[in-house]
Amino acid sequence: MNEQQKKTVLSGVRPTGPQHLGNLVGALRNWLSLQDVCQCFFTIVGWHALSSEYMNSKAIKGHTFEVALDWLGVGLDPEKCVMFLQSEVKEHAELHLILSMVTPLPWLERVPTFKEMQQELQDKDLNTYGFLGYPVLQAADIVIYKADFVPVGEDQAAHLELTREIVRRFNRIFGPIFPEPQTLLTEVPRLAGTDGRKMSKSFGNSILIKDPPELIREKIMPMITDTRRMRRNDPGEPNDCPVFTLHRAFVPKERQDEVAHGCRTAGIGCRECKAVVLEYLIRTLEPIQERRRAFEKNPGRVWDILEEGNRKARRVAQATMDTVRAALGF
Ligand code: TRP
Ligand code: SF4
Repeated sequence: MNEQQKKTVLSGVRPTGPQHLGNLVGALRNWLSLQDVCQCFFTIVGWHALSSEYMNSKAIKGHTFEVALDWLGVGLDPEKCVMFLQSEVKEHAELHLILSMVTPLPWLERVPTFKEMQQELQDKDLNTYGFLGYPVLQAADIVIYKADFVPVGEDQAAHLELTREIVRRFNRIFGPIFPEPQTLLTEVPRLAGTDGRKMSKSFGNSILIKDPPELIREKIMPMITDTRRMRRNDPGEPNDCPVFTLHRAFVPKERQDEVAHGCRTAGIGCRECKAVVLEYLIRTLEPIQERRRAFEKNPGRVWDILEEGNRKARRVAQATMDTVRAALGF
């Protein structure tokens, strides 16, 4: 397929810290296959992080570096995709401003994440103009590259719907400039964290991509299992076990089936079962962590890769903004 026929993909991550296994399974694995078949833009969205972390803005740069290391570690390839920093492509801010002019306030007030995040992060004052505009900035990130597809999890569905509504309104007023991006829902069974709830940074129950094997062992061995297996001889049900969500993501199917059978017949114990997933997990992460360490030792190279990505992104974003300004009559 030549470059012109390729579909354009954009996705972004807020730099709030290193990526965890949920990010690996839910997003990064998918991005890895997309970078071979689409024109992909992957961006670390520092301004989105700022919208909730403005009191701690100095931490964002370090988190950005960690995310970049995770991406390079898992094999995102700067030869195949554009990896860049949102805050280094100022055109995003200009388009955010322009889109904000045509976005009715009620559309933003009814985005479910607006109230939810305010509830969840009670220690932060998120009753700000910038935080309300979070989805408008996200829309700008996406449409400035005229992205066809946005690979994201279910939690982003409302933001993508709003992006399409903004696009329709913009196009109606100023002419057909932006395509309506489609959500590329990544359907993966949610990974459980170490406390049995969904693996999430905000729950502090994550296993990180960069965690050394010993730490991963310490996190997995005490994990809650199917509560029906109180004793070694009690049979269990893998579908009701948080640990087995990790098997599904990291253990080959045949071995998974063996373990599941062992669980249902009390043929194996939970310790043994956890040892299996630990073995495959560590085996999966080994080459990733090795690549990650190599980049970590060479931070100059990482920032150069990002800077090259910024340049490529800027070229596309500037061309789009020329069209937008002309459509406005400016
Ligand atoms: N809101 C997204 C999240 O919290 C991050 C994001 C910002 C994003 N801009 C984007 C995702 C553009 C996809 C496309 O995960
Ligand atoms: Fe979970 Fe494995 Fe124990 Fe079954 S044997 S309850 S799948 S940890």
